[in-house]
Amino acid sequence: MKELRTQVAIVGAGPAGLLLGHLLERSGIESIILERRSREYVERRVRAGVIEHGIANLLDESGAGQRMREVGLVHHGVEVRFERRSHRIPLTELSGGKSITVYGQQEVVKDLVRLRLDAGAPIVFDAAVTALDGLSSGEPTVSVSAPEGDVLVRCDFVAGCDGSFGVSHHALPANVARRHERTFPTAWLGILAEAPPAAEELIYCRHENGFALYSMRSPTLSRLYLGVRPDERLEDWSDGRIWDELSTRLATDEGAVVNRGPILERGITAMRTVVIEPMRYGALFLAGDAAHIVPPTGAKGMNLALADVRVLAEALHESIMSHNDTLLDSYSDTCLERVWRAQEFSNYMTQMLHPSFDDEFENGVQTARLRQLVNSREAATVLARSYVDLNSL
Ligand code: FAD
Ligand code: PHB
Repeated sequence: MKELRTQVAIVGAGPAGLLLGHLLERSGIESIILERRSREYVERRVRAGVIEHGIANLLDESGAGQRMREVGLVHHGVEVRFERRSHRIPLTELSGGKSITVYGQQEVVKDLVRLRLDAGAPIVFDAAVTALDGLSSGEPTVSVSAPEGDVLVRCDFVAGCDGSFGVSHHALPANVARRHERTFPTAWLGILAEAPPAAEELIYCRHENGFALYSMRSPTLSRLYLGVRPDERLEDWSDGRIWDELSTRLATDEGAVVNRGPILERGITAMRTVVIEPMRYGALFLAGDAAHIVPPTGAKGMNLALADVRVLAEALHESIMSHNDTLLDSYSDTCLERVWRAQEFSNYMTQMLHPSFDDEFENGVQTARLRQLVNSREAATVLARSYVDLNSL
């Protein structure tokens, strides 16, 4: 079997694994990124779209933010819509001048892949990690199944950045890992459409038929979501049905419109929340979705993943370059404090905006929360600060 040696083996070329590789490379630490999918696949996967203020700065300062700054859309507010009325939350005004950048996750992935390949650093695509061993023995190894045959990677550290369906989190022994999990009684049907967005800012909408979100990727591309039942089948949603339902839910008394166009991409995503504690076992460090999932209503998934590797890159640098393990030892606690804060925020947003179909008490509470949000500057300020920059607070 072919053997390779590196300082840090990174499992997964999503936002977390790619940014970690980039930050390590810039600080003179060697790594190999192992990705089970092809380059085309990871660069086309449509997912998150909102980048927090501090995370946009992180990308920028690390040299990965150039295209994001050129073509990303900077937003200073969001709309909250319920009872057929729209209310604007002035994010920038309420957060001391901060803003969000709307820029697709696959664009972040493309930028980071290009930077890494330009730097001559390795990413092995179509290479599935099958096992992690020796994590507590001081001699970690990563077993990889690659097109040219099996490979064994010997390393000092393993970064588990392989998302919620990866192998890394399974390497934590059952008597070490605590897993906290909830599934929500709703899912999101998302579309990407060739249609100019009819609104300048994102619209989060609660309607009695369910949740809706109006988002975008560019002046000509709209990204929209509908809250649907978890067992809903995509084939039951014709283009016409999707657009009609979006128009119904997003309608206001002022006659708001949804711009229609060809649907380029569609999918249904279950809504789950997961936290794995601790985020470390021996030489293995989990980051991003491998360690935690948040419901997408708070737009925190990708931001959390990038914030984890900001902490991890610095901790690995301190350990490898200065033989100081203090930051590595506190990595899990440092991240988990922020992860739970993001869980709280994402759960608050989810519960406020997805109506219940069988619990009128719950619906009364949701409406009261929404009214408080749009009538109280204090309540709107709490939301704005978390929405714009939770991971750097
Ligand atoms: P990922 O992006 O999942 O990357 C993990 C990588 O590891 C993948 O490329 C995967 O192929 C690879 N991998 C897995 N197993 C192995 C293995 N054994 N060997 C090698 N490689 C492996 N967030 C939002 O804010 N808004 C959204 O609209 C939104 N939509 C989403 C839709 C879906 C279907 C999913 C799954 C997530 C969505 N998220 C969304 C969440 C957000 O996209 C994630 O939080 C973000 O991708 C986390 O980045 P990551 O790098 O931790 O993991
Ligand atoms: C998106 O644009 O894909 C998006 C925006 C906000 C969210 C989730 C997804 O909360």
